[in-house]
Amino acid sequence: MKFTLLTLFPEPIEAYFASSIMARAVQKGLVDYRCVNIRDFAADAHRTCDDAPYGGGAGMVLKAEPLAAALDSVAADSRHTVYPTPSGSPLSTALIERLCGHNELVLICGRYEGIDQRIIDLYVDDEVSIGDYVLSSGELAALVIVDALYRHLDGVITRESLEEESFQDGLLEYPHYTRPEVFRCREVPPILLSGHHERIREWRMQQRIEKTRRVRPDLYEAWQSRTAGDEHKE
Ligand code: ADE
Repeated sequence: MKFTLLTLFPEPIEAYFASSIMARAVQKGLVDYRCVNIRDFAADAHRTCDDAPYGGGAGMVLKAEPLAAALDSVAADSRHTVYPTPSGSPLSTALIERLCGHNELVLICGRYEGIDQRIIDLYVDDEVSIGDYVLSSGELAALVIVDALYRHLDGVITRESLEEESFQDGLLEYPHYTRPEVFRCREVPPILLSGHHERIREWRMQQRIEKTRRVRPDLYEAWQSRTAGDEHKE
């Protein structure tokens, strides 16, 4: 899968793609990426990319012309263009799986108050929000989307890791422990040392249900009604 990121600040993006599991995915050829600096497409002597909003109001808006020129410079045929914005559709497992179906994603990293609406109208396929809060860096939001996506690609992490994560079948994850057995007087739950795989599986499921009920009652209720529906069908 290829990610093309349009940005005014390539540094954090380059650093992200050069680190950890992502760096390995790039090395293995599972992920390809490109940073396009929007400023390279600003036509005036000062390479201006922002301007005051029509109608007044706080902040600056990313101008249409440099963004359009940057978007026109990336291959048009197979791309799907995503604009991370707090006013987009919430990022979810379902949306991630849909976006994974594209060979190339182009992500526009906004700054300031946002980008000119005409770019959204003309170029953007999906406006995506990573949560109900506002970041000052569109790069961070774009990288959250990239990170949530690429780990679903075959060969990046094991199937088992993906299947055991939070949100798979609508519940949060069970707690994890590693050595030492006792840390600051706190012991690892004895069941995990028992070697009894079936009982460990049941304990972990119980922990997932309990945690979800406590911190995400919305997910818990949805899971409960689904489980009750499934039992009805059987
Ligand atoms: N840019 C700034 N805040 C954002 C958010 N919450 N989601 C997506 N993009 C953003």
